[in-house]
Amino acid sequence: MTRHILHVVGARPNFMKVAPVIAALDRRGVQQTLVHTGQHYDAKLSDEIFRELDLPEPDINLGVGSGSHAEQTAQVLLGMEQVLLDRRPDLVLVYGDVNSTVAAALAAVKIGIEVGHVEAGLRSGDRTMPEEINRLVTDRLSTRLFTPSEDGDANLLREGVPAEWIHCVGNVMIDTLVRLLRRANPDKMLDALSLRDGHGTVPFALVTLHRPSNVDDEGSLRGLLKALAEIGRDIRIVFPMHPRTRARVEAMGIEHRGITVADPLSYLEFLSLQKLATLVITDSGGIQEETTYLGVPCLTMRENTERPVTTTLGTNLLIGRDTARLKGEVAKILSGSARKGSIPPLWDGDAATRIAALLV
Ligand code: UD1
Repeated sequence: MTRHILHVVGARPNFMKVAPVIAALDRRGVQQTLVHTGQHYDAKLSDEIFRELDLPEPDINLGVGSGSHAEQTAQVLLGMEQVLLDRRPDLVLVYGDVNSTVAAALAAVKIGIEVGHVEAGLRSGDRTMPEEINRLVTDRLSTRLFTPSEDGDANLLREGVPAEWIHCVGNVMIDTLVRLLRRANPDKMLDALSLRDGHGTVPFALVTLHRPSNVDDEGSLRGLLKALAEIGRDIRIVFPMHPRTRARVEAMGIEHRGITVADPLSYLEFLSLQKLATLVITDSGGIQEETTYLGVPCLTMRENTERPVTTTLGTNLLIGRDTARLKGEVAKILSGSARKGSIPPLWDGDAATRIAALLV
């Protein structure tokens, strides 16, 4: 029986995953501690999302902020060791694949505290992605592995993880989406971005790009923005820009004419646009899943995905870095031949309830 569970989150995509787990464990009366590493600190990437998700204030904020991978990881390791020695939880739960996830897991196992990984087993097979390294290491350190889909189980079994450690529970990110979808009112965003005319909502493509493979190389980033501007002649392009991408665009002095660029949006603001978008162009992990659930066509600017069910069952198509192909696939969607998808098994809003039942 697990008496005290300590959750560690650090970056935007963690917050949607921890929220339903905390709520489900609360319903079972478990003592919980929430640690925010502070990897993401902007109001838009963190504070506002906490409020919208009804997350409690973190009990502890390590304030690690930005830095190189080694700096970020090392700061979380140092901070977490002290927190864990002070609080002595029975179990540490970590989420997803960000630097805070792997660092917290390492700090915990080294002082003999068991680690559970929510969103375990995902593999892109691409070790040039920092997130893939984080996934591999975190899963190796964890003894309770909660996977969102059966491919995760297969990956873990292939890597030699004992079957009794693996639990296919479904997708906690979809728990949050299911709960908050009705609260995602698009009126404010449609007005703010001038996405309405006399006939109603103007058709638009929603874009997010921030992976190093797309935005760190000047040629790739310029090519993508040029392709988006061309697509923008046929459909409005709305691009809420991640701070990492904005910094690169500014440093490289790239113009983005023909594209509506916005600041990062809150969770509900983004969801409200996502459900109305004609299509989504992204390199995010979570957005591949959300579009699959919503049935919105998604074009992913990556060579691979750690979430293959979104391509086999869902609406996701991998485009790689081929901007000519991107334009071709957008044209197909605009001509009415978008691929139809279905919702993967266990993506039903109850994943966190299943996790809580397994833990308590
Ligand atoms: C991180 C995760 C990535 C996730 C993404 C979602 C890792 C390795 N990557 O990437 O998996 O998809 O979050 O957002 O953990 N910055 C700000 N404000 C902030 C946070 C960051 O301006 O609140 C800027 C900093 O200049 C920083 C850069 O964004 O250098 C990148 O932030 P970082 O936390 O290193 O990784 P992300 O690219 O956000």
